[in-house]
Amino acid sequence: MKALITGASSGLGKDMALVLGKKGWDLILVARRADRLENVKNQINNVNVQCIIADVSKTEECEKLYERTKDENVDMIINNAGFGDCGKFLETDLERELNMIDTNIKAVHILTKLFLHDFAQRNSGYILNVASSAGFMAGPLMATYYATKNYVLRLTEAIYQELRQDKINVHISALCPGPVETEFNQVASVKFAIKGLDSCQVAEYAIEQALKGKLIIVPGTAMKFAKFGGRFMPDKAMLRMCYKIQYHKV
Ligand SMILES: NC(=O)c1ccc[n+]([C@@H]2O[C@H](COP(=O)([O-])OP(=O)(O)OC[C@H]3O[C@@H](n4cnc5c(N)ncnc54)[C@H](OP(=O)(O)O)[C@@H]3O)[C@@H](O)[C@H]2O)c1
Repeated sequence: MKALITGASSGLGKDMALVLGKKGWDLILVARRADRLENVKNQINNVNVQCIIADVSKTEECEKLYERTKDENVDMIINNAGFGDCGKFLETDLERELNMIDTNIKAVHILTKLFLHDFAQRNSGYILNVASSAGFMAGPLMATYYATKNYVLRLTEAIYQELRQDKINVHISALCPGPVETEFNQVASVKFAIKGLDSCQVAEYAIEQALKGKLIIVPGTAMKFAKFGGRFMPDKAMLRMCYKIQYHKV
């Protein structure tokens, strides 16, 4: 079996690579930082690991990535590369937000479409799109990030249903964790009020559930309860709560 993972140079992407490597999967690791990818490769033994340097925010690099790997019989694609930013929408940087949309949405969209065509044709394969619990709601002070994760979640859900209706044996999942201890906070200049989950444990759980074909994967009991409880909270109360307690800029 073989998996392609974007954003495999740190955090959840790296840890999902380690989990799959231990299971004996060959790996194609993708990110921009070559040294960090090599470092991950060196931590994985007894399987074939290929590193590809690519900036997935660029359409042509996503297309090149697909062209380079389409004949490699990839069984699973994990669209994990992504980042956030914190601040009032009136004050945040437009260029950074457009790059976030390109990374968190456009790249996921392109790679899902390209690989899904092949997976559907051979009637097998797994797509794991890393969304977030941010995908369940709006996120004042992280408006763009939350909106990108809503897109990823809704896209994944819709494709899931189309595949089931057409009896196509391809499994698509959205991973929706709350805060996880990775480099995310540093990149986004954010500090969450809730302590983050352990990235290795989230990675283990995500892979286990994706291989079972679970549509929405929510690691941790607290976030499962929060998702359930959120259904009964009025929209505006939810917005006020998010604004006040969820995070602050560091
Ligand atoms: N940590 C959390 O609290 C949390 C919670 C829910 C969801 N998530 C999601 O989990 C995913 C992984 O984030 P993380 O928490 O593991 O953060 P992280 O440690 O900062 O890892 C982000 C990864 O994405 C890669 N990346 C970013 N932009 C890229 C680009 N343009 N092209 C290629 N690779 C790119 C980075 O690699 P390079 O810099 O080397 O390119 C890095 O490997 C993200 O989609 C994030 O939104 C995180």
